[in-house]
Amino acid sequence: MNNPQRSAEPVLTGRGLVKRYGEQYALAGVDIDVRAGEVVAIVGPSGSGKTSLLHLLAGILRADGGEIRLQGQRIDQLGEKQRSELRRTEFGFVFQSGRLVQELTAEENVALPSLLAGRGRKESVAAGREWLGRLGLAGMEGRRPGELSGGQAQRVAIARALTHQPKVIFADEPTGALDTRTGHETMNALLTAARDSGAAVLIVTHDWELAQALPRMIAIRDGRIATRQPA
Ligand SMILES: Nc1ncnc2c1ncn2[C@@H]1O[C@H](COP(=O)(O)OP(=O)(O)OP(=O)(O)O)[C@@H](O)[C@H]1O
Ligand SMILES: [Mg+2]
Repeated sequence: MNNPQRSAEPVLTGRGLVKRYGEQYALAGVDIDVRAGEVVAIVGPSGSGKTSLLHLLAGILRADGGEIRLQGQRIDQLGEKQRSELRRTEFGFVFQSGRLVQELTAEENVALPSLLAGRGRKESVAAGREWLGRLGLAGMEGRRPGELSGGQAQRVAIARALTHQPKVIFADEPTGALDTRTGHETMNALLTAARDSGAAVLIVTHDWELAQALPRMIAIRDGRIATRQPA
């Protein structure tokens, strides 16, 4: 897959990343580079450290060792407040099952990160509506998550991850709760939307077939990188 927005400079880098839980190493020294606009699949058995890696890179968890840089700047040493600011402004998240706010409409859910990132209400709602439209959800802006199918709700979650124009999207098993066909459609929607936005995407998936189809795949085993494709 060619990506015209892919540039040579990494947007996000991890060096020697270590995460421990007591005596156990969830990550035992991982190096990773993600370039702007690039899509990277992360695969590996349950418990191998995939979620830990995403959470470290996104500043949700603190590393016990190593360095993380966003556009060349160290971010792993920032305090909680600054990291949460980074998560709101520079990163987007898609979880296994949407985690949409049930009381809010699709449009309100999608506008939320943009509002939290400090943009005005009108601008946030307009951007949200545009992404909902691009993801095939025009006409459903006023529905609450309970009034959407699983695949539709997940596309709302994708729109929500993109509306504030993040540099990197972290997707942890974004299609894990969907049937195979809906899962593939949703994944295609995510990839197309990310390409349009220029954001880099890190996708954790159990779907080996899908991972193989992506331009880059990193396999993790026991907290270490087992394979990189292309090397
Ligand atoms: N909060 C925690 N406390 C203790 N151990 C943890 C914690 N979170 C994760 N671990 C351990 O760290 C290791 C890596 O976990 P992680 O969640 O990163 O795996 P994963 O690859 O995402 O697995 P899955 O595919 O099941 O989601 C596992 O052995 C797990 O049991
Ligand atoms: Mg996980």
